[in-house]
Amino acid sequence: MDMEKLVALCRRRGFIFQSSEIYGGINGFWDYGPLGVELKRNIKEAWWQDMVRNPPPGPDGEEIAMVGLDCALIMNPKVWEASGHVGGFSDPMVDCKTEGCKGRFRADQLATSVCPLKPSRAPGQHDKCQLTEPRTFNLMFKTFIGALEDASALAYLRPETAQGIFVNFKNVLDSSRLKLPFGIAQVGKAFRNEINPRNYTFRSREFEQMEIEFFCHPDDSMKWYQYWRDVRIKWYTKLGIKSDNLRPREQGKEELAHYSIGTTDIEYLFPFASEPQELEGVAHRGAYDLTQHQQHSGKDMSYFDEDAWLREKDKYPEAEAAKEAKSKPPYRFLPHVIEPSAGADRFTLAVLCEAYAEEKVGDETRTVMRFHPRLAPIKAAILPLVNKEGMPEIARKLYQDLKRDFNVFYDDKGAVGRRYRRQDEAGTPYCLTVDGQTIQDHTVTIRDRDSLKQERLPLAEVAGKLRELLRP
Ligand code: GLY
Repeated sequence: MDMEKLVALCRRRGFIFQSSEIYGGINGFWDYGPLGVELKRNIKEAWWQDMVRNPPPGPDGEEIAMVGLDCALIMNPKVWEASGHVGGFSDPMVDCKTEGCKGRFRADQLATSVCPLKPSRAPGQHDKCQLTEPRTFNLMFKTFIGALEDASALAYLRPETAQGIFVNFKNVLDSSRLKLPFGIAQVGKAFRNEINPRNYTFRSREFEQMEIEFFCHPDDSMKWYQYWRDVRIKWYTKLGIKSDNLRPREQGKEELAHYSIGTTDIEYLFPFASEPQELEGVAHRGAYDLTQHQQHSGKDMSYFDEDAWLREKDKYPEAEAAKEAKSKPPYRFLPHVIEPSAGADRFTLAVLCEAYAEEKVGDETRTVMRFHPRLAPIKAAILPLVNKEGMPEIARKLYQDLKRDFNVFYDDKGAVGRRYRRQDEAGTPYCLTVDGQTIQDHTVTIRDRDSLKQERLPLAEVAGKLRELLRP
């Protein structure tokens, strides 16, 4: 697939625009257009439905407990000291001192970066290049709270949604009366001041995460690590990503983030890269974050296993010994955490790449976006064959009925063949056409985007049929 064609289609059809385009754009920031916003919302909604409201059963067939959160983008800066982001969330960077270049590059990506000097070469490859020694560059965006711009007012835009979950662990526990194991999920924006944003929306400075922190007993953590790796890979294939293009890859020890005991990246083979790239990291974070927040905040972040205590409390008949036993393992401990952390924009980009197809239909070539029907921005287009003979009235009525439940689109402009092509490009899985026969027998045709087959069905059955076709 040709990435340039996809980028052009995304702009032309309103999936993705450059941010602030009329001012020349701004590097590393993107806007979703009318079709893109629907696609991305459907992705986030599918994730919330399938992971939070109705997650797959656990390894022993048990129900998985999950709740959600929606935290502020700006948190007390002490959060980021405790989490390790102030001290350790950085990339190595080099600058070029040459006039006309003055470029800034990731030291670990020099071979695949392009220097602004002509002819295009990697930084360091021109005789004139003067690269500095690598320095660390913290990726958090800084801002100031209130009127004074001094150190006491410094704050950060969150670089991950995860910490909002960790700092609320006790609030959620106390308000929801959950027992281990359980997950807390959050979808939301995060910000990283990437040195080299690139590959379209893949590496952006503002992006959206879909994260779960799954809290469990330390003894069970490897079981849940496995579970979440499997669940997450299956989710991508269920939504139409071909398994040939997906690769789970265990990170080497040298790659692991400061908090992680082990991480599996779920990678996708994007057309712009020769190697698969990360869509999601499933990390075993151990007790790192709760330990850090307990130390830095001075607040107890432990979990009390009441069931284990009730089972075994008779072992401690003396009040003093019972009190002592209750305050430490195996009854009181810091849970371990498994974190499936997915990028909503990265998955949106993978869905766009995966969906794009060009194919011959008769003498014509059509461009079609083969989105999974659950993710498709528009579920069905309603088309009167001609704008007369009572067809528009029936089509309008059908449209008005359907739009209460589905994102549907009414199109009466141009030849019906052209209208079908426009819907193919938007990835609309079904077209409903009102024609001459509709007037006589109250049936419409339903055209399938992929097979191009058309069937007739009664107007009264259209909503039910769509509901069945779009069911998760
Ligand atoms: N919370 C993990 C990450 O943002 O990469």
